[in-house]
Amino acid sequence: MSQFRIFDVIIWGATGFTGRLVAEYLLKTYGNDVGLRWAIAGRNEEKLKQIRAELKDDSIPILLADSDDKESLDELAARTKVICTTVGPYAKYGSKLVEACIEQGTDYCDLSGEPQWIRSMIDQHQDAAAEAGVRIVNCCGFDSIPSDLGVMFLQNAIKEKTGQYAQHIKLRLKAMSGTFSGGTFASMQNVLHEANTDSMTRRVLKSPYGLNPEIDNQGDDVPDLEAVIFDKDAESYITPFLMAGINTKIVRRSHALSGFQYGKGFRYDEATLSGPGFKGKLKGIGMALQLATLVVGKPGSRLRNYLDSKLPDPGEGPDKEARENGFFNFLLIGKLEDGTVVRGKVTGDRDPGYGSTSKMLGECAVCLAKDKDKTPEVAGLLTPSIAMGDVLLNRLQKNAGLTFSIEE
Ligand SMILES: NC(=O)c1ccc[n+]([C@@H]2O[C@H](COP(=O)([O-])OP(=O)(O)OC[C@H]3O[C@@H](n4cnc5c(N)ncnc54)[C@H](OP(=O)(O)O)[C@@H]3O)[C@@H](O)[C@H]2O)c1
Repeated sequence: MSQFRIFDVIIWGATGFTGRLVAEYLLKTYGNDVGLRWAIAGRNEEKLKQIRAELKDDSIPILLADSDDKESLDELAARTKVICTTVGPYAKYGSKLVEACIEQGTDYCDLSGEPQWIRSMIDQHQDAAAEAGVRIVNCCGFDSIPSDLGVMFLQNAIKEKTGQYAQHIKLRLKAMSGTFSGGTFASMQNVLHEANTDSMTRRVLKSPYGLNPEIDNQGDDVPDLEAVIFDKDAESYITPFLMAGINTKIVRRSHALSGFQYGKGFRYDEATLSGPGFKGKLKGIGMALQLATLVVGKPGSRLRNYLDSKLPDPGEGPDKEARENGFFNFLLIGKLEDGTVVRGKVTGDRDPGYGSTSKMLGECAVCLAKDKDKTPEVAGLLTPSIAMGDVLLNRLQKNAGLTFSIEE
């Protein structure tokens, strides 16, 4: 190991809305001493000093690196075991860092919910990362940890109980309280922009297996829900879930990377519950229309510009009260071949996108840095469940306010 590798974790993007929360979480949970050596990084020294002043700890080290300056990223990666990055949109600012981490032998975790960018990183770097023994772990926040670890948890519980795995798992958002930040909107808008201009992006977004090792590897899964329909298993109408586009692909990637351990016929889907009866149907239609306001109108069109002007700018997001009063609650429905149904639950105790996400990402970074001897021996472009499995799940339950349970 490089003698300059003096940190366990560097948070790159600490001046942004989410990065600052990750720094706050590490300081509160692990302190700032030899137990966990960590630093904050970004492109603007003055802003980083300001963050450090807000954290009230002048001894937190500050490092500088810009997404356009590969040399600065190489130096950053060489100084730590793990880079935890919140610099997004990742498709715009993230590619050189992935390259630097692989070259420097540094593990990596992020919050990218951008399927087209993750696909291009897999295609470009899977072999090199695997050969270098480096773990590049995407989607370590609300997308896609509850889905990815939720499926792993439910399948393990079902296997223990029945000796089999479920053939179909449905994840249903029961309730949540939280909003988006400007950085997340910027990332979503960039995905839409790339989908308008690039056919590979459209192909990745459209295919249920867009992030599997082989994109054309077809199973029985169908594209994500685009209508309001009744779900008998949930006894409720269901409506599209915004995060399904990335989450379902991550769960299927995990399954493929596991060697299809649940069987090639395994199916997975996600949706939001809107309730039973006519009221539930109407509510579902209302929720779908609300979602549509995020994606209607061509980038640059008058309608899109008007809608964008109502959304937060990069650096802005939900306030402390909204983060602390936020929560999420998912229902998992596992169906076995003989028709048996087993239900599970995943919950989080802060707003999903920031309060809870910053804790999930922080725990992923610490898990990569500190638990290598307990986690699976894997390398490459990975998902959270494949890279860290139960070790991460236990950390999230112990420290980060998440719960995973079976509904008896
Ligand atoms: N998956 C999830 O659950 C989840 C949840 C939350 C956020 N996210 C994602 O996380 C990312 C960050 O979101 P956010 O709301 O925290 O965004 P943000 O507040 O806009 O922060 C972006 C950060 O990137 C930095 N940055 C921008 N350009 C850079 C460059 N050229 N070189 C180095 N640093 C640069 C900014 O630095 P300056 O301060 O110097 O401008 C800032 O620190 C987004 O992609 C978002 O979609 C995902």
